[in-house]
Amino acid sequence: MSDTILETEGMTKEFRGFVAVSDVRLQVKRGTIHGLIGPNGAGKTTCFNLLTKFLPVTRGKISYEGRDITNLKPADIARLGLVRSFQISAVFPHLTVLENVRLALQRARGNSFDFWRPESLLKRYDNRALELLEDVGLTAYARHNAGELPYGRKRALEIATTLALEPTMMLLDEPTAGMTHDDVDRIVALVKRVAAGRTVLLVEHNLKVVEGLCDTITVLARGSVLAQGDYATVSRNPEVQAAYLGTDPGIAGGTAHG
Ligand SMILES: Nc1ncnc2c1ncn2[C@@H]1O[C@H](COP(=O)(O)OP(=O)(O)O)[C@@H](O)[C@H]1O
Ligand SMILES: [Mg+2]
Repeated sequence: MSDTILETEGMTKEFRGFVAVSDVRLQVKRGTIHGLIGPNGAGKTTCFNLLTKFLPVTRGKISYEGRDITNLKPADIARLGLVRSFQISAVFPHLTVLENVRLALQRARGNSFDFWRPESLLKRYDNRALELLEDVGLTAYARHNAGELPYGRKRALEIATTLALEPTMMLLDEPTAGMTHDDVDRIVALVKRVAAGRTVLLVEHNLKVVEGLCDTITVLARGSVLAQGDYATVSRNPEVQAAYLGTDPGIAGGTAHG
């Protein structure tokens, strides 16, 4: 098995001539938490969409586990174990937290519309769902309607439904966006916990959030890779500091809000 689990070469995305992602070379090491950061509009979400095949590349190549996935579909790569966190909109607000995770487990096994499973099988799903809820700190909320959860807890539920797919590599797009300080701390701890035994690519607006989390950080600015390395290396890079100055409090001001 190669040390590198995900790799891009010359990854480029143009929107009607506007280059949103330009010639990006990424190498994500197996078993690490890799941060993809940069100021607003840097191209982070576009990269995320390219990697998970929600958008086709204009040019370039994407490899996962040594295999060219450039032209695969989102469902194909999910089956290969490369899974993006679901959006909150994918959470059913009128189902309970437990039911949401159980549904994700059923879906992961291809039983999406088969609600009439033997009782024993449903019990097994319930047990696994409760384990996942414990992993993300939602045990106390199991019987609550998902729609009633506070924002930070919804993101935790979203991570639980992603974990239901047993990803080898997980992609999270700004899991702390719009959160209060307490929620940010909780999600940072959660990402640390779920990263055990897998690879995580974390797209994040704020360098502070990834400081204690990421082994490697790639800094994007205006679609291009500006710097790469650990936190100490990228945060003292003058180009990175210039890119963030006046646009983002992450480096200059030190707040954890995205
Ligand atoms: N579908 C699209 N059509 C046109 N321009 C887009 C589209 N998606 C993103 N962009 C542009 O690409 C740039 C990068 O956007 P995005 O990847 O969302 O940045 P980030 O996530 O780093 O804030 C921005 O200038 C944005 O306006
Ligand atoms: Mg974004």
